[in-house]
Amino acid sequence: MRNSQIEVMPIAGALGAEIGGVDVAQDLDDSVIRQIRQALLDHGVIFFRDQTLDVDRHKAFTRRFGEIFIHPNYNGVSADPEIVDIRREPGDKKIVGEDWHTDTTMVAEPPMGAILYAIDVPPYGGDTLFANQYLAYETLSPGLKRTLEGLKAVHTDRMVAGPQAGMNAHRSTKVREDADWRETISVHPVVRTHPETGRKLLFVNRSYTVGFEGWTEAESKPLLDYLMEHGNRPEFTCRFRWSNGSIAFWDNRCTKHLAVHDAGPFRRIMRRTQICGDAVH
Ligand code: SIN
Repeated sequence: MRNSQIEVMPIAGALGAEIGGVDVAQDLDDSVIRQIRQALLDHGVIFFRDQTLDVDRHKAFTRRFGEIFIHPNYNGVSADPEIVDIRREPGDKKIVGEDWHTDTTMVAEPPMGAILYAIDVPPYGGDTLFANQYLAYETLSPGLKRTLEGLKAVHTDRMVAGPQAGMNAHRSTKVREDADWRETISVHPVVRTHPETGRKLLFVNRSYTVGFEGWTEAESKPLLDYLMEHGNRPEFTCRFRWSNGSIAFWDNRCTKHLAVHDAGPFRRIMRRTQICGDAVH
């Protein structure tokens, strides 16, 4: 595809757009990649329909946006460290990503984005929700914005991996639970500035953030709970209904997402890559 214009069709007021006119399995021209990247920056999460991506093409498309991130908690558990196979079988009590979260924020440089490809999805159920964290920040009162200025939050993976999290007994997607697993902790600003758009946004999430630096977890909880719930308000969200061959590509620096755990009797098979990011400022 050479120098063509992609189609960008917003799906909600807050964020999210479907992209048309692109076959991501092709060797896309740089100008098309630039347009896709711009659509990602403008809309926070972008979607493609009716794509056919094998593992190699999935990785090749991912690499057009940066290096592939190796997830420390799936490394050695998944067959291919560059891929996380997200599998939900009927009867699973837990699924990957069922709380509102930004991916992998326990690391010092969380991924800039993720590209999730639908291989076998239910006829209904198993949608994914996304929330715009620029709006979450911008709609706070001036007083609360001042309180958050300079505040940092502690992010840990102890709730989603390791033996104490006990995930593997309840879900088909396995994560590291071995005795050699060690908790990873990082401290990030509560209000971050997006490195490409320069906009401020709220950067706390349910799966990883446990408190404010210098505060106890009990002291942190009420304000943290408020910020987390505020960040998920319906008017900040969009909802994506999958079909086989769909792709969601989210900017992990300014969005949260949640996989809805309502696939009931159905299997749901997805393949995810992540793209390396940078330190949070
Ligand atoms: C994730 O949190 O990366 C998984 C989202 C999904 O399966 O919809």
